[in-house]
Amino acid sequence: MTSVTAEPANIPTHVAVIMDGNGRWARARGKARHAGHRAGVKSVRATVEAAAERGVAHLTLFAFSSENWRRPEEEVSSLMKLFVEALRREVSELHRNNVRLRFIGAREQLSDSLQRKIAAAEETTAGNTGLMLNVAVAYGGRWDIVHAARVVAQRVASGELTASEVNENEIASALQLGDTPDPDLLIRTGGEQRISNFLLWNLAYAELWFTDVLWPEFDKQDFDAALAAFSAKQRRYGHTGEQVEAAEC
Ligand code: IPE
Ligand code: IPE
Ligand code: MG
Repeated sequence: MTSVTAEPANIPTHVAVIMDGNGRWARARGKARHAGHRAGVKSVRATVEAAAERGVAHLTLFAFSSENWRRPEEEVSSLMKLFVEALRREVSELHRNNVRLRFIGAREQLSDSLQRKIAAAEETTAGNTGLMLNVAVAYGGRWDIVHAARVVAQRVASGELTASEVNENEIASALQLGDTPDPDLLIRTGGEQRISNFLLWNLAYAELWFTDVLWPEFDKQDFDAALAAFSAKQRRYGHTGEQVEAAEC
């Protein structure tokens, strides 16, 4: 069956995803939370494939927030093991599919072995020219802005830049995704309608799409539904609708 939503007119250049609802998915099945995280890996695969197939250039997935360290130690350590395992199992397939993988976040907070695997995955896929896949681990939007402010402050301290030369471009380019266009579309699964400290700066003008679907159930059709909703939006960036229409003629 061909879906009417399969080919939306405007494909977003950058899609960001808050992959939420793993714990509730597991609980509803009488399983431990970890089973939900494991089940979520297949949705990651489907989303990466869908993004590449639809011509999305950049995909950024929120896998572990700076606040998720507050979870029970057992859940944190099983998530870290899952990341290691997913890297071991998925990187060669991603590489075959020309996907470039990059991690954003406070990677120094991760174990040495996970850091090494991340570095190796980034190195292996560095020359790929297909989908750019950013995975946010130990990432927080406020952490990102503070980190960028430090980088810029350092440049001011060294005399490379004056305080009055600090502008939006200087801050934006010092962020983790400083070389990447801002997300056009943010998808959040799991029913909550909040940002949870994801890409605070970068999401300034993203279209927001929320679904009650829990992450382990999220599939290509859901991704297409988000793209279809996105393609119907008029993006005004502060202009009037009439101005935007006139510019489009
Ligand atoms: C998202 O699912 C995965 C992470 C935050 C690591 P949750 O684990 O938050 O699932 P819920 O929200 O408890 O259902
Ligand atoms: C956001 O989900 C973080 C990730 C999906 C990695 P949370 O489940 O941590 O968000 P809150 O705590 O409900 O806001
Ligand atoms: Mg959650």
